[in-house]
Amino acid sequence: MKIGIDKIGFYAPHLYVDMNNLAKARDVEPAKFTIGIGQEKMAIAPLTQDAVTLAANAAMEILDDSDRAAVDFVIFGTETGVDHSKAAGVYVHHLLNLQPHTRTVEVKQACFGATAGIQMAKGHIALNPDSKVLVLASDIARYGLRTGGEATQGAGAVAMIISKDPKILALEEPSSYLTEDVMDFWRPVYSEYAQVDGKLSNEMYLSFFEKIWNAYKQKTGLGIGDFAAICYHLPYTKMGLKALRTIYDQGTETDKDRLLENLEYSKIYNKHVGNIYTGSLYLSFLSLLEHQSNLNAGDRIGLFSYGSGAVGEFFTGLLQPDYQVHLNTKQHQDLLASRKEVSVEEYEQIFEAKLPKDGTDFELDVDADPAKIKLSGVGGHIRHYMNSSQVKV
Ligand code: COA
Repeated sequence: MKIGIDKIGFYAPHLYVDMNNLAKARDVEPAKFTIGIGQEKMAIAPLTQDAVTLAANAAMEILDDSDRAAVDFVIFGTETGVDHSKAAGVYVHHLLNLQPHTRTVEVKQACFGATAGIQMAKGHIALNPDSKVLVLASDIARYGLRTGGEATQGAGAVAMIISKDPKILALEEPSSYLTEDVMDFWRPVYSEYAQVDGKLSNEMYLSFFEKIWNAYKQKTGLGIGDFAAICYHLPYTKMGLKALRTIYDQGTETDKDRLLENLEYSKIYNKHVGNIYTGSLYLSFLSLLEHQSNLNAGDRIGLFSYGSGAVGEFFTGLLQPDYQVHLNTKQHQDLLASRKEVSVEEYEQIFEAKLPKDGTDFELDVDADPAKIKLSGVGGHIRHYMNSSQVKV
């Protein structure tokens, strides 16, 4: 039985800051951000968007009535959830009117969470072939103003339906994975901001890629000549090139050119959104599919997932016939094109705006946010969400 990605949706908040302007404000050469790091725009989440609303907006785009009836497992990958106890997916389940006999959980392991979700979903479908799983990957990456990680922030979500007979990508069986206890990036429970050793995180990412790729090759006998493209977790888009260049001489010149060309397509959305942590790999996969018209059914795509701390995995899938018909390319391009640029000063104000920490009543200006699903306020320690679309909640 084929199991894999049947549908894929994406959402980013409606505000962004231009990286050239951020560089100037931080007294940095703009080329460092745009070329050295490889980012052009950074999505900014207003208070009306959090991990729940970003995920719900991404999922709303792909769910139809038959999905609503068949989804019986919601797996929400995030490292910027809104509650220490309640799974963010329970809010999404309600906001999107999913059928009640559903198992809903949140999965955390830095940027690896959604990959764990996909693998769990694959097992669930193998045991329950007629069900579908909604895997959500949603985060707001915040390192803090004027920090070393500031240029690698962002916000957004990817939503995927995992099912049998998938319309987009059939996952293959072998994968290789690795865990090592490393303090390259973490966020203590008392802190809003991530702690990061940036240089170590780059080194660990590459060391994981090397070990996992070698283990994968040993397990399968496959090499880079067997891949149409490899998508990477992209905390910033230069990271993909750093990883690819460690292996691109293992094949022919044609292999190298093909993988480099496809890496460019797989970076386009990420360059304009920034780091969305656990969704970044899947945004990159979506970017490849929605920009490269030369891929064919049966092409093998590799996916490298890395979550600091650290857990990594390399797994693969085969593109399905007519997969292009099942993408929402125009909608995603319109979404990014319709965003509003904010100045660095406005970005700083939005960044510093906070919800009350003591649960007192607080109403948000929902009219300023064009998203269909948004946080409308907090009262009595409860977050209140609204869905202004046709979907009844
Ligand atoms: N023109 C072009 N490139 C330039 C440049 C310029 N004027 N100035 C600097 N650069 C290049 C550097 O050569 C470097 O390239 P390289 O990585 O290929 O060597 C790149 O820009 C970044 O410069 P660097 O001095 O290393 O940046 P930094 O000290 O500000 O740190 C990160 C960059 C990514 C480590 C930092 O933003 C961070 O900690 N981010 C969060 C953690 C993260 O994303 N980790 C990734 C793995 S999970």
